[in-house]
Amino acid sequence: MSLDQSLQLLRHWGQTALEHLPPQAQDVLLHPLVPKALTAFLALGIISKANRSLGYWAANNWQRAKPWQNERELVLVTGGCSGIGKQIMEDLAKAGVRVVILDIQEPSFQLPSNVAFYKADITSSENIRNVVEKIRATHGDPTVLVNNAGVGHDGCILDEPEAKIRQTFEVNTVSHFLMVREFLPSMIKQNHGHVITIASMASFVALGEIVDYCCTKASALAFHEGLGQELRLWYKAPKVRTSVIHPHWVKTPMIKILTDVGHQFRGPILTTEMISAAVVKQILTQSSGQVIIPSHFSVISLIRAFPSWLQEAARGKGSKDLRVLRDVQEAKGL
Ligand SMILES: NC(=O)c1ccc[n+]([C@@H]2O[C@H](COP(=O)([O-])OP(=O)(O)OC[C@H]3O[C@@H](n4cnc5c(N)ncnc54)[C@H](O)[C@@H]3O)[C@@H](O)[C@H]2O)c1
Repeated sequence: MSLDQSLQLLRHWGQTALEHLPPQAQDVLLHPLVPKALTAFLALGIISKANRSLGYWAANNWQRAKPWQNERELVLVTGGCSGIGKQIMEDLAKAGVRVVILDIQEPSFQLPSNVAFYKADITSSENIRNVVEKIRATHGDPTVLVNNAGVGHDGCILDEPEAKIRQTFEVNTVSHFLMVREFLPSMIKQNHGHVITIASMASFVALGEIVDYCCTKASALAFHEGLGQELRLWYKAPKVRTSVIHPHWVKTPMIKILTDVGHQFRGPILTTEMISAAVVKQILTQSSGQVIIPSHFSVISLIRAFPSWLQEAARGKGSKDLRVLRDVQEAKGL
């Protein structure tokens, strides 16, 4: 059938469908603005799809990675004994992937048969080096590194003890450098691998009482962005993937102090399953990218382009929620 004939057939079907509608609906659809609105929607759809495709290929250096094969890959997850890291480990193990978890605490659960645990403090390069030798000897070089371990303390700048501030920076930021220095060289050599950074919505918005945490998560985003540049332009390893994940609040032991307050803690509060699903998808599809969860919060990543009064309003809203929680905690003696 020629294009002309197909268009004629479509027109005929459209006309027949229109004749079966009530007269009021026919009037609305025959309004002269309707074809313009439909064209605008179609154009927006095409632009949005093209934008997503360009974003994907640019993040992936316009190159396809080798297809994922469980036998070839080894995923190392820091902080795999609790919360998000534990969920990622469980989901990968279920998919038949070999996983190594590093954590400062011992697992309080039975490890799946394809998962190994190594105890390490990821803020100590000496500690890391010791376990890395054992990992290499037993399992080989990890092809995927998930920099997930993190800590979060509450307290205003003038109140929080220096040790806690330093620990937050050491675990949430400095450890990324230490881990990557161990595992990136073999990824570069093979031009294959993936470094995943678990950041936060706090990468975009700094709130009162968690200023140190927000600083470290803004740094984690900068780490991810700079690492991608070095891989492409300095190390010539464009197929080594980099992903950054920005979850909103997630129900884990890290924010128990906040969720324990009760209904005054404003959501949305995500589950570890939601974050793990996003991370596992990045890993198994070998895709670089920036993932904001929930996705409709993506607009927050544009905050610095907002007018300053709107930026202040957004930071003020989040900070006021935390301020209210502090008042409730004090009133309840928590
Ligand atoms: N829970 C949230 O609301 C939330 C939101 C956004 C981002 N995140 C980020 O997700 C990641 C995981 O957090 P979570 O909520 O699962 O917390 P969690 O407290 O449940 O787990 C963190 C894990 O990291 C480990 N860890 C801490 N310090 C370590 C060290 N020095 N060496 C080795 N392991 C260490 C802990 O033992 C723990 O097992 C963190 O980077 C966190 O900042 C959490």
